[in-house]
Amino acid sequence: MMPEDARRWRVVEETLRQVLGSFAYEEIHLPLLEFTELFSRGIGEATDIVAKEMYSLEDRDGTSMTLRPEGTAGCARALQQAGLLFNQTQRVFYTGPMFRYERPQKGRYRQFDQIGAEVFGLIGPDVDAELLALSWNFWQALGIESHVTLELNTLGSAQCRAGYRRALVDYLTPQVKALDEDSQRRLSSNPLRILDSKSAQTQEILENAPSLSDFIDAASRKHFARLCELLEQLGIGFTHDPRLVRGLDYYTHTVFEWVTAELGAQGTICAGGRYDGLVELIGGKSTPGAGFALGLERVILLTENHGHLAEQDFSAATDVYCCVLNATDQGWAMTVAANVRQARPSLRVRVHAGGGKLKNQLRRADLSGASWALIIGEDEVANNQVTVKWLRDDTPQRMVAIPALTELLK
Ligand code: HAM
Repeated sequence: MMPEDARRWRVVEETLRQVLGSFAYEEIHLPLLEFTELFSRGIGEATDIVAKEMYSLEDRDGTSMTLRPEGTAGCARALQQAGLLFNQTQRVFYTGPMFRYERPQKGRYRQFDQIGAEVFGLIGPDVDAELLALSWNFWQALGIESHVTLELNTLGSAQCRAGYRRALVDYLTPQVKALDEDSQRRLSSNPLRILDSKSAQTQEILENAPSLSDFIDAASRKHFARLCELLEQLGIGFTHDPRLVRGLDYYTHTVFEWVTAELGAQGTICAGGRYDGLVELIGGKSTPGAGFALGLERVILLTENHGHLAEQDFSAATDVYCCVLNATDQGWAMTVAANVRQARPSLRVRVHAGGGKLKNQLRRADLSGASWALIIGEDEVANNQVTVKWLRDDTPQRMVAIPALTELLK
């Protein structure tokens, strides 16, 4: 990521961090490498991520390690190991790169960044609603809320899901030959994912398939109904998509995706749900959990064309460029720059290095995107002044005394 992209990135990330802070979520730092077993148990052996997309390597002692493909399993592992899950609630977030061996294209990379938020120890739909309110606030803070929609579903308890899985397999097995290749493979390994198939023929077959909603028990329905009620109260619009199942096995009850129509096939910018069985699955005491992760690259792509940041210019790296006419005055120029930086820490001040003619130095100043050039020559040094030249408007240049300088640079 080159400097201009990195500047946009930082503004987006800071905006999102600010929202997370306003919900009192606390940041944690997690390792990039985990034992492979954590992911195969937590995410599920049969998922695409574990079966096809992990970057795994052998440690020197032969242990299989994997570059994290997502953050939830590692987050649960870390909090559990630190003893922070027992009889407590936690609301945390993390940021950083994830790794998946996928076919790269715009919005889909083999190394990508997520910001994830996770809540542990709370079982009710109020927390699901809080997580959705938090993500909704993200889109509002970035000004992209009119470009995203929320798709929501419930998978019910693990038992509901198992019952549905059996019914779906029973329905599809006699027609297996008519399914697309991926779905044929998934029928034995991960049949629920067939619902996500992009094949028109498979989708036609699915039209008469049993519906997941018929397998959801009363308690799970109540959880989902309360969540919908809370979202309505909060004014967060959503559509109930009974086919939404998600690609990781740890989900129970609520699952959701924030999608946009602006990014083509990579339209899911954020996704998550409840995972009440995960902590137990990875060896801890049963602890409910829920969370989401957003794909930072995708969110940034969306902000490039929409929202508050679309208009902002990220190209300029410098505000003030000091031109130094004589090499002997370099130290004096650096002291002037130090004074400006101290008085106005938000200004980006660059001192010309390498000598050369004023004309060339001014050209560099212009290319740097600076609004002001400070010209430092013999007269200026003798009088403890600098010449200020406005590079982006017609204000005539003038000599100013050093103490008055910082007042001018506004
Ligand atoms: P996920 O749906 O696999 O869920 O990923 C979450 C988000 O990461 C996606 O919606 C997408 O924006 C972004 N993403 C995924 N793969 C790529 C890629 N190859 N290139 C660019 N962006 C990508 C999870 O990872 C779960 N851990 C989310 C979660 C947290 N559920 C509960 N808590």
